[in-house]
Amino acid sequence: MKSIQVGLLGIGTVGSGTYSVLKRNQAEIRRRAGRGIDITMVADLDVARARSLVGEGVTVVNDARAVIANPDIDIVIELIGGYGIARQLVMEAIAAGKHVVTANKALLAVHGTEIFAAAHAKGVMVAFEAAVAGGIPIIKALREGLTANSIQWIAGIINGTTNFILSEMRNKGLDFDVVLKEAQRLGYAEADPTFDIEGVDAAHKITLMSAIAFGVPVQFDKAHIEGITALSAQDIRYAEQLGYRIKLLGITKRSIDGKTGAPRGIELRVHPSLVPSKRLIANVEGAMNAVVVQGDAVGTTLYYGKGAGSEPTASAVIADLVDVTRLHTADPAHRVPHLAFHPGAPGDDLPVLPMADVVTSYYLRLRVADQAGVLSKVTGILADADISIDAMLQREADEIAADANGSQVEQTDIIILTHDTREGTMNDAVARMQALPSVLQPITRIRKEELA
Ligand code: HSE
Repeated sequence: MKSIQVGLLGIGTVGSGTYSVLKRNQAEIRRRAGRGIDITMVADLDVARARSLVGEGVTVVNDARAVIANPDIDIVIELIGGYGIARQLVMEAIAAGKHVVTANKALLAVHGTEIFAAAHAKGVMVAFEAAVAGGIPIIKALREGLTANSIQWIAGIINGTTNFILSEMRNKGLDFDVVLKEAQRLGYAEADPTFDIEGVDAAHKITLMSAIAFGVPVQFDKAHIEGITALSAQDIRYAEQLGYRIKLLGITKRSIDGKTGAPRGIELRVHPSLVPSKRLIANVEGAMNAVVVQGDAVGTTLYYGKGAGSEPTASAVIADLVDVTRLHTADPAHRVPHLAFHPGAPGDDLPVLPMADVVTSYYLRLRVADQAGVLSKVTGILADADISIDAMLQREADEIAADANGSQVEQTDIIILTHDTREGTMNDAVARMQALPSVLQPITRIRKEELA
Protein backbone atom coordinates (compact mmCIF):
# COMPACT_ATOMS: atom_id res chain seq x y z
CA MET A 1 0.00 0.00 0.00
CA LYS A 2 1.16 3.52 -0.75
CA SER A 3 2.79 5.30 2.20
CA ILE A 4 0.76 7.91 4.04
CA GLN A 5 2.19 11.38 3.38
CA VAL A 6 2.88 13.73 6.22
CA GLY A 7 3.60 17.47 6.21
CA LEU A 8 5.56 18.92 9.12
CA LEU A 9 5.04 22.51 10.26
CA GLY A 10 8.09 23.57 12.28
CA ILE A 11 11.25 21.48 12.45
CA GLY A 12 12.74 22.51 15.79
CA THR A 13 13.70 20.20 18.64
CA VAL A 14 10.62 17.93 18.48
CA GLY A 15 10.27 18.12 14.69
CA SER A 16 13.84 17.00 14.06
CA GLY A 17 13.42 14.19 16.62
CA THR A 18 10.25 13.08 14.86
CA TYR A 19 11.99 13.04 11.50
CA SER A 20 14.97 11.03 12.71
CA VAL A 21 13.02 8.48 14.84
CA LEU A 22 10.58 7.91 11.97
CA LYS A 23 13.53 7.23 9.70
CA ARG A 24 15.50 5.10 12.18
CA ASN A 25 12.56 2.85 13.08
CA GLN A 26 10.94 2.99 9.64
CA ALA A 27 10.57 -0.78 9.14
CA GLU A 28 9.04 -1.47 12.56
CA ILE A 29 6.71 1.52 12.33
CA ARG A 30 5.58 0.34 8.88
CA ARG A 31 4.78 -3.13 10.28
CA ARG A 32 2.78 -1.60 13.11
CA ALA A 33 0.89 0.95 11.04
CA GLY A 34 0.24 -1.42 8.13
CA ARG A 35 1.83 0.99 5.67
CA GLY A 36 4.73 3.41 5.48
CA ILE A 37 4.58 6.86 7.06
CA ASP A 38 6.72 9.42 5.22
CA ILE A 39 7.34 13.06 5.99
CA THR A 40 7.39 14.37 2.44
CA MET A 41 7.07 18.11 3.07
CA VAL A 42 8.47 20.42 5.76
CA ALA A 43 7.66 24.07 6.35
CA ASP A 44 10.01 26.16 8.46
CA LEU A 45 11.07 29.79 8.40
CA ASP A 46 14.71 28.65 8.43
CA VAL A 47 14.67 26.75 5.14
CA ALA A 48 18.44 26.17 5.05
CA ARG A 49 18.46 24.58 8.50
CA ALA A 50 15.39 22.50 7.67
CA ARG A 51 17.06 21.31 4.46
CA SER A 52 20.20 20.33 6.38
CA LEU A 53 18.09 18.23 8.76
CA VAL A 54 16.04 16.32 6.18
CA GLY A 55 18.39 16.10 3.21
CA GLU A 56 17.17 15.77 -0.37
CA GLY A 57 13.93 14.00 -1.28
CA VAL A 58 11.75 16.06 1.05
CA THR A 59 10.11 19.27 -0.15
CA VAL A 60 11.17 22.15 2.12
CA VAL A 61 9.25 25.43 2.05
CA ASN A 62 8.97 28.50 4.24
CA ASP A 63 5.21 28.78 3.80
CA ALA A 64 3.15 26.47 6.01
CA ARG A 65 0.08 27.08 3.86
CA ALA A 66 1.81 25.38 0.93
CA VAL A 67 1.83 22.18 3.02
CA ILE A 68 -1.86 22.51 3.87
CA ALA A 69 -2.71 23.19 0.22
CA ASN A 70 -0.86 20.11 -1.02
CA PRO A 71 -3.53 17.52 -1.95
CA ASP A 72 -1.05 14.64 -1.46
CA ILE A 73 -0.55 15.39 2.24
CA ASP A 74 -2.83 13.31 4.49
CA ILE A 75 -1.59 14.38 7.94
CA VAL A 76 -0.25 17.74 9.11
CA ILE A 77 2.00 17.81 12.18
CA GLU A 78 1.85 21.19 13.92
CA LEU A 79 4.96 21.88 16.00
CA ILE A 80 5.00 25.67 15.85
CA GLY A 81 3.49 26.28 19.30
CA GLY A 82 1.49 29.15 20.79
CA TYR A 83 -2.04 30.33 20.09
CA GLY A 84 -1.43 32.68 17.18
CA ILE A 85 -0.48 31.43 13.74
CA ALA A 86 -0.60 27.82 15.00
CA ARG A 87 -4.33 28.18 15.66
CA GLN A 88 -5.00 29.55 12.18
CA LEU A 89 -2.96 26.81 10.54
CA VAL A 90 -4.62 24.01 12.51
CA MET A 91 -8.07 25.35 11.63
CA GLU A 92 -7.06 25.69 7.97
CA ALA A 93 -5.64 22.16 7.90
CA ILE A 94 -8.89 20.80 9.36
CA ALA A 95 -10.93 22.79 6.84
CA ALA A 96 -8.75 21.29 4.09
CA GLY A 97 -9.64 17.79 5.35
CA LYS A 98 -6.21 17.00 6.82
CA HIS A 99 -5.73 15.05 10.02
CA VAL A 100 -3.68 17.00 12.54
CA VAL A 101 -1.07 15.80 15.03
CA THR A 102 0.08 18.44 17.49
CA ALA A 103 2.17 18.86 20.65
CA ASN A 104 0.55 22.23 21.31
CA LYS A 105 -0.98 22.03 24.80
CA ALA A 106 -1.49 25.78 25.07
CA LEU A 107 -3.51 25.86 21.85
CA LEU A 108 -5.75 22.91 22.80
CA ALA A 109 -6.22 23.97 26.44
CA VAL A 110 -7.42 27.40 25.33
CA HIS A 111 -9.09 26.73 21.96
CA GLY A 112 -9.71 22.97 22.17
CA THR A 113 -13.51 23.22 22.11
CA GLU A 114 -13.47 25.10 18.81
CA ILE A 115 -10.75 22.91 17.28
CA PHE A 116 -12.28 19.55 18.26
CA ALA A 117 -15.73 20.67 17.09
CA ALA A 118 -14.32 21.69 13.71
CA ALA A 119 -12.47 18.38 13.38
CA HIS A 120 -15.58 16.42 14.37
CA ALA A 121 -17.68 18.26 11.79
CA LYS A 122 -15.09 17.63 9.09
CA GLY A 123 -14.56 13.97 10.04
CA VAL A 124 -10.82 14.36 10.69
CA MET A 125 -8.70 13.51 13.71
CA VAL A 126 -6.72 15.89 15.93
CA ALA A 127 -4.24 13.82 17.90
CA PHE A 128 -2.27 15.32 20.78
CA GLU A 129 -0.44 12.65 22.80
CA ALA A 130 2.71 14.81 22.72
CA ALA A 131 0.90 17.75 24.31
CA VAL A 132 0.80 16.20 27.80
CA ALA A 133 3.80 14.78 29.65
CA GLY A 134 5.96 14.37 26.53
CA GLY A 135 6.78 10.72 25.93
CA ILE A 136 4.43 9.28 28.57
CA PRO A 137 1.38 7.82 26.76
CA ILE A 138 -1.03 9.33 29.27
CA ILE A 139 -3.64 10.49 26.75
CA LYS A 140 -3.89 6.95 25.37
CA ALA A 141 -4.09 5.56 28.90
CA LEU A 142 -6.88 7.93 29.91
CA ARG A 143 -8.87 7.71 26.68
CA GLU A 144 -8.57 3.98 26.10
CA GLY A 145 -6.69 1.98 28.72
CA LEU A 146 -8.78 3.25 31.63
CA THR A 147 -12.08 3.54 29.77
CA ALA A 148 -13.84 1.09 32.10
CA ASN A 149 -13.28 3.37 35.08
CA SER A 150 -15.02 6.20 36.72
CA ILE A 151 -11.91 8.34 37.21
CA GLN A 152 -11.75 9.78 40.72
CA TRP A 153 -8.70 11.99 40.50
CA ILE A 154 -5.50 12.72 38.62
CA ALA A 155 -2.40 14.31 40.14
CA GLY A 156 0.67 14.91 38.06
CA ILE A 157 4.15 16.33 38.00
CA ILE A 158 3.71 17.60 34.48
CA ASN A 159 6.31 20.32 34.21
CA GLY A 160 9.91 19.18 34.13
CA THR A 161 11.45 22.62 34.64
CA THR A 162 9.72 23.23 37.95
CA ASN A 163 10.35 19.69 39.16
CA PHE A 164 14.05 20.17 38.41
CA ILE A 165 14.05 23.44 40.35
CA LEU A 166 12.26 21.94 43.37
CA SER A 167 14.56 18.89 43.37
CA GLU A 168 17.65 21.09 43.37
CA MET A 169 16.23 23.35 46.09
CA ARG A 170 15.67 20.28 48.28
CA ASN A 171 18.89 18.43 47.50
CA LYS A 172 21.22 21.42 47.66
CA GLY A 173 19.28 23.73 50.01
CA LEU A 174 19.45 26.50 47.40
CA ASP A 175 16.88 29.25 46.91
CA PHE A 176 14.57 29.51 43.92
CA ASP A 177 16.40 32.28 42.04
CA VAL A 178 19.75 30.51 42.15
CA VAL A 179 18.32 27.21 40.83
CA LEU A 180 16.29 28.93 38.13
CA LYS A 181 19.52 30.37 36.68
CA GLU A 182 21.03 26.87 36.74
CA ALA A 183 17.93 25.44 34.99
CA GLN A 184 18.31 28.08 32.27
CA ARG A 185 22.03 27.34 31.93
CA LEU A 186 21.26 23.63 31.47
CA GLY A 187 18.56 24.39 28.90
CA TYR A 188 15.63 23.01 30.94
CA ALA A 189 13.95 26.37 31.42
CA GLU A 190 13.24 28.74 28.56
CA ALA A 191 14.94 32.15 28.47
CA ASP A 192 11.43 33.35 29.44
CA PRO A 193 10.39 30.59 31.83
CA THR A 194 7.17 32.33 32.94
CA PHE A 195 4.76 29.62 31.74
CA ASP A 196 6.81 26.96 33.52
CA ILE A 197 7.43 28.62 36.89
CA GLU A 198 4.02 30.27 37.16
CA GLY A 199 2.26 26.94 36.63
CA VAL A 200 0.62 27.89 33.32
CA ASP A 201 2.23 25.06 31.32
CA ALA A 202 1.10 22.50 33.92
CA ALA A 203 -2.39 24.05 33.88
CA HIS A 204 -2.62 23.58 30.11
CA LYS A 205 -1.82 19.90 30.56
CA ILE A 206 -4.11 19.18 33.53
CA THR A 207 -6.94 20.99 31.71
CA LEU A 208 -6.68 18.50 28.84
CA MET A 209 -6.50 15.51 31.17
CA SER A 210 -9.49 16.79 33.15
CA ALA A 211 -11.63 17.03 30.03
CA ILE A 212 -10.73 13.47 29.03
CA ALA A 213 -11.14 12.01 32.50
CA PHE A 214 -14.49 13.58 33.31
CA GLY A 215 -16.10 14.23 29.93
CA VAL A 216 -16.30 17.96 30.59
CA PRO A 217 -15.33 20.76 28.18
CA VAL A 218 -11.76 22.01 27.96
CA GLN A 219 -11.86 24.97 30.36
CA PHE A 220 -8.41 26.39 31.03
CA ASP A 221 -9.97 29.73 31.98
CA LYS A 222 -11.46 28.11 35.09
CA ALA A 223 -8.24 26.49 36.32
CA HIS A 224 -6.72 27.79 39.56
CA ILE A 225 -3.02 28.40 38.90
CA GLU A 226 -0.17 29.05 41.34
CA GLY A 227 3.49 28.58 40.50
CA ILE A 228 6.59 27.99 42.60
CA THR A 229 8.14 31.45 42.72
CA ALA A 230 7.10 32.10 46.33
CA LEU A 231 8.48 28.83 47.72
CA SER A 232 11.45 29.01 50.06
CA ALA A 233 14.15 26.43 50.76
CA GLN A 234 13.12 26.76 54.41
CA ASP A 235 9.58 25.44 53.72
CA ILE A 236 11.04 22.57 51.73
CA ARG A 237 13.21 21.71 54.78
CA TYR A 238 10.34 21.93 57.28
CA ALA A 239 8.15 19.77 55.02
CA GLU A 240 10.96 17.20 54.87
CA GLN A 241 11.18 17.10 58.67
CA LEU A 242 7.44 16.35 58.79
CA GLY A 243 7.74 13.52 56.23
CA TYR A 244 6.68 15.41 53.09
CA ARG A 245 8.14 16.74 49.86
CA ILE A 246 6.90 19.79 48.00
CA LYS A 247 5.96 19.23 44.36
CA LEU A 248 4.19 21.40 41.80
CA LEU A 249 1.12 19.28 41.07
CA GLY A 250 -1.58 19.55 38.46
CA ILE A 251 -4.68 18.14 40.13
CA THR A 252 -8.14 17.38 38.82
CA LYS A 253 -10.69 15.62 40.93
CA ARG A 254 -14.33 14.61 40.86
CA SER A 255 -15.55 16.17 44.09
CA ILE A 256 -18.28 14.17 45.81
CA ASP A 257 -20.79 15.47 48.35
CA GLY A 258 -19.97 13.55 51.53
CA LYS A 259 -23.64 13.37 52.56
CA THR A 260 -25.47 12.57 49.34
CA GLY A 261 -22.67 10.88 47.39
CA ALA A 262 -23.60 13.07 44.39
CA PRO A 263 -20.82 14.79 42.42
CA ARG A 264 -20.42 18.46 43.48
CA GLY A 265 -18.19 19.37 40.57
CA ILE A 266 -14.67 19.13 39.22
CA GLU A 267 -11.56 20.47 40.89
CA LEU A 268 -9.03 21.88 38.43
CA ARG A 269 -5.92 23.33 40.00
CA VAL A 270 -2.15 23.72 39.80
CA HIS A 271 -0.16 24.69 42.87
CA PRO A 272 2.73 23.56 45.06
CA SER A 273 1.63 20.68 47.28
CA LEU A 274 3.09 18.74 50.15
CA VAL A 275 3.10 15.03 49.24
CA PRO A 276 4.07 12.26 51.72
CA SER A 277 7.74 11.37 51.07
CA LYS A 278 6.85 7.69 50.92
CA ARG A 279 4.66 8.08 47.80
CA LEU A 280 6.35 7.10 44.55
CA ILE A 281 5.44 10.42 42.98
CA ALA A 282 7.22 12.30 45.77
CA ASN A 283 10.43 10.62 44.61
CA VAL A 284 10.19 11.76 41.01
CA GLU A 285 13.29 13.88 40.69
CA GLY A 286 14.86 16.31 38.24
CA ALA A 287 13.10 17.06 34.97
CA MET A 288 11.10 13.81 34.95
CA ASN A 289 7.28 13.76 34.80
CA ALA A 290 4.81 11.43 36.51
CA VAL A 291 1.04 11.19 36.56
CA VAL A 292 -1.04 9.29 39.12
CA VAL A 293 -4.56 8.32 38.05
CA GLN A 294 -7.08 6.90 40.48
CA GLY A 295 -9.94 4.94 38.93
CA ASP A 296 -12.74 3.19 40.78
CA ALA A 297 -12.03 -0.20 39.22
CA VAL A 298 -8.28 -0.17 38.65
CA GLY A 299 -7.27 1.68 41.83
CA THR A 300 -4.13 3.78 41.71
CA THR A 301 -1.96 3.77 38.58
CA LEU A 302 1.28 5.65 37.98
CA TYR A 303 2.83 6.74 34.68
CA TYR A 304 6.44 7.96 34.69
CA GLY A 305 8.87 9.17 32.05
CA LYS A 306 10.44 12.08 30.23
CA GLY A 307 8.01 14.94 29.84
CA ALA A 308 10.03 16.86 27.28
CA GLY A 309 12.97 16.58 24.91
CA SER A 310 13.44 15.79 21.26
CA GLU A 311 13.01 12.01 20.96
CA PRO A 312 10.75 11.42 24.00
CA THR A 313 8.25 13.90 22.56
CA ALA A 314 8.80 12.50 19.06
CA SER A 315 7.84 9.10 20.48
CA ALA A 316 4.39 10.52 21.28
CA VAL A 317 4.06 12.37 17.96
CA ILE A 318 4.80 9.17 16.04
CA ALA A 319 2.38 7.14 18.17
CA ASP A 320 -0.28 9.57 16.98
CA LEU A 321 0.88 9.25 13.37
CA VAL A 322 0.50 5.47 13.62
CA ASP A 323 -2.96 5.80 15.20
CA VAL A 324 -4.14 8.19 12.51
CA THR A 325 -2.69 5.94 9.80
CA ARG A 326 -4.53 2.92 11.18
CA LEU A 327 -7.82 4.76 11.55
CA HIS A 328 -8.01 7.30 8.78
CA THR A 329 -10.07 5.07 6.50
CA ALA A 330 -12.41 4.07 9.35
CA ASP A 331 -15.89 5.51 9.69
CA PRO A 332 -15.34 8.63 11.87
CA ALA A 333 -18.10 7.42 14.19
CA HIS A 334 -16.00 4.35 14.99
CA ARG A 335 -12.90 6.27 16.03
CA VAL A 336 -12.03 7.03 19.65
CA PRO A 337 -13.53 10.48 20.35
CA HIS A 338 -10.99 13.29 20.75
CA LEU A 339 -11.77 13.75 24.43
CA ALA A 340 -12.82 10.14 25.11
CA PHE A 341 -16.55 10.91 25.39
CA HIS A 342 -18.88 11.29 22.42
CA PRO A 343 -19.69 15.00 22.11
CA GLY A 344 -23.19 16.00 23.17
CA ALA A 345 -23.68 12.97 25.43
CA PRO A 346 -25.29 13.84 28.78
CA GLY A 347 -23.12 14.42 31.86
CA ASP A 348 -20.73 17.06 30.56
CA ASP A 349 -22.13 19.86 32.71
CA LEU A 350 -20.29 19.31 36.01
CA PRO A 351 -19.03 22.75 37.05
CA VAL A 352 -15.44 23.55 37.96
CA LEU A 353 -15.58 24.24 41.69
CA PRO A 354 -14.42 27.63 42.97
CA MET A 355 -11.29 27.23 45.11
CA ALA A 356 -13.19 28.35 48.21
CA ASP A 357 -15.20 25.11 47.96
CA VAL A 358 -12.21 22.80 47.47
CA VAL A 359 -11.55 20.61 50.49
CA THR A 360 -7.92 19.82 51.26
CA SER A 361 -5.39 19.89 54.08
CA TYR A 362 -2.69 22.49 54.69
CA TYR A 363 0.84 23.30 55.78
CA LEU A 364 1.01 26.62 57.61
CA ARG A 365 4.16 28.46 58.68
CA LEU A 366 3.80 31.40 61.00
CA ARG A 367 6.68 33.68 61.96
CA VAL A 368 5.77 34.70 65.49
CA ALA A 369 7.07 36.52 68.54
CA ASP A 370 8.28 33.86 70.96
CA GLN A 371 5.97 34.95 73.79
CA ALA A 372 3.56 33.26 76.20
CA GLY A 373 0.10 32.59 74.80
CA VAL A 374 0.92 32.95 71.08
CA LEU A 375 0.46 29.28 70.29
CA SER A 376 -2.84 29.08 72.13
CA LYS A 377 -4.18 32.10 70.20
CA VAL A 378 -3.23 30.47 66.91
CA THR A 379 -4.67 27.06 67.80
CA GLY A 380 -7.75 28.79 69.27
CA ILE A 381 -8.50 30.39 65.90
CA LEU A 382 -8.14 27.02 64.17
CA ALA A 383 -10.40 25.37 66.77
CA ASP A 384 -13.04 28.12 66.32
CA ALA A 385 -13.03 27.38 62.59
CA ASP A 386 -13.34 23.63 63.29
CA ILE A 387 -9.98 23.04 61.59
CA SER A 388 -8.27 20.04 63.15
CA ILE A 389 -4.46 19.99 63.61
CA ASP A 390 -2.67 16.91 62.30
CA ALA A 391 0.94 17.72 63.32
CA MET A 392 2.97 20.63 64.64
CA LEU A 393 6.58 21.73 64.80
CA GLN A 394 8.00 24.64 66.75
CA ARG A 395 11.59 25.70 66.51
CA GLU A 396 13.56 27.31 69.32
CA ALA A 397 13.75 31.09 68.98
CA ASP A 398 16.31 31.69 66.24
CA GLU A 399 16.46 35.44 65.84
CA ILE A 400 15.92 38.68 67.70
CA ALA A 401 14.33 41.25 65.42
CA ALA A 402 11.98 44.22 65.51
CA ASP A 403 8.21 43.62 65.71
CA ALA A 404 5.54 45.93 64.19
CA ASN A 405 6.08 48.47 67.01
CA GLY A 406 9.85 48.51 66.61
CA SER A 407 10.45 46.52 69.83
CA GLN A 408 13.17 43.88 69.75
CA VAL A 409 11.57 40.43 70.25
CA GLU A 410 12.72 36.85 70.00
CA GLN A 411 11.19 35.22 66.94
CA THR A 412 10.46 31.69 65.86
CA ASP A 413 8.53 29.60 63.33
CA ILE A 414 5.44 27.58 64.15
CA ILE A 415 4.63 24.97 61.52
CA ILE A 416 1.20 23.36 61.53
CA LEU A 417 -0.23 20.58 59.37
CA THR A 418 -4.02 20.49 59.35
CA HIS A 419 -6.62 17.90 58.48
CA ASP A 420 -9.03 18.53 55.60
CA THR A 421 -11.06 21.70 55.57
CA ARG A 422 -12.82 23.92 53.03
CA GLU A 423 -10.44 26.44 51.48
CA GLY A 424 -12.89 29.26 52.24
CA THR A 425 -12.80 28.31 55.93
CA MET A 426 -9.00 28.23 55.87
CA ASN A 427 -8.86 31.65 54.17
CA ASP A 428 -10.91 33.17 57.00
CA ALA A 429 -8.79 31.49 59.68
CA VAL A 430 -5.53 32.64 58.04
CA ALA A 431 -6.86 36.21 57.90
CA ARG A 432 -7.66 36.08 61.64
CA MET A 433 -4.24 34.61 62.50
CA GLN A 434 -2.52 37.19 60.32
CA ALA A 435 -4.21 39.96 62.30
CA LEU A 436 -2.65 38.79 65.60
CA PRO A 437 0.06 41.30 66.69
CA SER A 438 2.36 38.40 67.55
CA VAL A 439 2.30 37.09 63.95
CA LEU A 440 5.18 39.06 62.48
CA GLN A 441 5.28 38.15 58.77
CA PRO A 442 2.84 37.01 56.07
CA ILE A 443 1.72 33.44 56.84
CA THR A 444 2.95 30.79 54.42
CA ARG A 445 0.17 28.44 53.41
CA ILE A 446 0.80 25.41 51.15
CA ARG A 447 -1.85 22.79 50.33
CA LYS A 448 -1.19 19.15 51.22
CA GLU A 449 -2.32 16.09 49.26
CA GLU A 450 -2.14 12.61 50.74
CA LEU A 451 -2.76 11.00 47.29
CA ALA A 452 -4.07 7.80 48.86
N1 HSE B 1 8.47 23.36 29.46
C1 HSE B 1 7.91 22.05 29.58
C2 HSE B 1 8.49 21.39 30.84
C3 HSE B 1 8.26 21.24 28.35
O1 HSE B 1 9.37 21.94 31.49
O2 HSE B 1 8.04 20.32 31.19
C4 HSE B 1 7.22 20.29 27.88
O3 HSE B 1 5.94 20.77 27.89
